[in-house]
Amino acid sequence: MKSFLHVQDLGDLRVALAEAKEIKNDRFRYVESGRNKTALLVFFNNSLRTRLSTQKAALNLGMNVIVLDVNAGAWKLETERGVIMDGDKSEHLLEAIPVMSCYCDIIGIRSFAGLTDREYDYAETVYHQFVRYSGKPVFAMETATVHPLQAFADLITIEEHKQKARPKVVLTWAPHPRALPQAVPNSFAEWMNAADVDFVITHPEGYELDPLFAGDARVEYDQMKAFEGADFVYAKNWSCPGVTRPADYGKILADYHDMLHWTVSDRQMAITDNARFMHCLPVRRGMIVADSVIEAPTSLVIPEAANREISATVVLRRILQGMQE
Ligand code: CP
Repeated sequence: MKSFLHVQDLGDLRVALAEAKEIKNDRFRYVESGRNKTALLVFFNNSLRTRLSTQKAALNLGMNVIVLDVNAGAWKLETERGVIMDGDKSEHLLEAIPVMSCYCDIIGIRSFAGLTDREYDYAETVYHQFVRYSGKPVFAMETATVHPLQAFADLITIEEHKQKARPKVVLTWAPHPRALPQAVPNSFAEWMNAADVDFVITHPEGYELDPLFAGDARVEYDQMKAFEGADFVYAKNWSCPGVTRPADYGKILADYHDMLHWTVSDRQMAITDNARFMHCLPVRRGMIVADSVIEAPTSLVIPEAANREISATVVLRRILQGMQE
């Protein structure tokens, strides 16, 4: 594997899930596979879980790790071509990428959507510049439109906790005071569509996810109807993906004060089939979810975060294997 953005990049999901189980039982099993290999993790945006879990995964495989926070200690980087660099950005990504690639074997990228130019974000411009100009395998640690390490960890968590062969999984929009990217819901939808689950998406009208990710998933605009009989509830805010109205891309369509009935609370959870609550974290309590739901024994937010180490170990191992081919 030379690039990791989408569920298809992992091949057969059942094989990947079996590998995740194997690694979880013995996370240092492949400690020799990364000897003398260096992972460079490049962060254009903040992170807690991705930063720690991906470093831990690399260590599980015996790799060396370098972490670069582009906005703290490095030169500010220009990412667009054809601009006159007379502002505060001292270096262009097109020089910085080949320089970074001199010091590593694999590169992880965290670079969020700008949420102003849909075409630029959905082309994954920054990620593909790394692929093109580094000459090294590259993997997404949440890019403009996807967060596959999170979605893989979410799927591992569902597999571990499901009580039915084909559980009902509901992805629900929830309110937030700031405009957030669509990366997490996009990837969650993509991975759930590839998994053996009954998948339903619920959100207010106007927040339709890009069909590339939503696929044929059922969309139910009535949140209470969507929650009926659910086995897993996955909450997340996202800004307008601009599918039905491109001019609204990246916008919040209604004041969050008027949307607090979408906050996941005991009212909605009561009509599920004792559903497990999920969220990628960080989460704003009182906005996305009520304290009582996230603190309940049915909450899976910590196991999900723990599984980030496992998903990253599988992905890094696959990349290392690809380097031997
Ligand atoms: N879920 C997730 O990616 O968390 P961080 O933003 O803290 O890495």
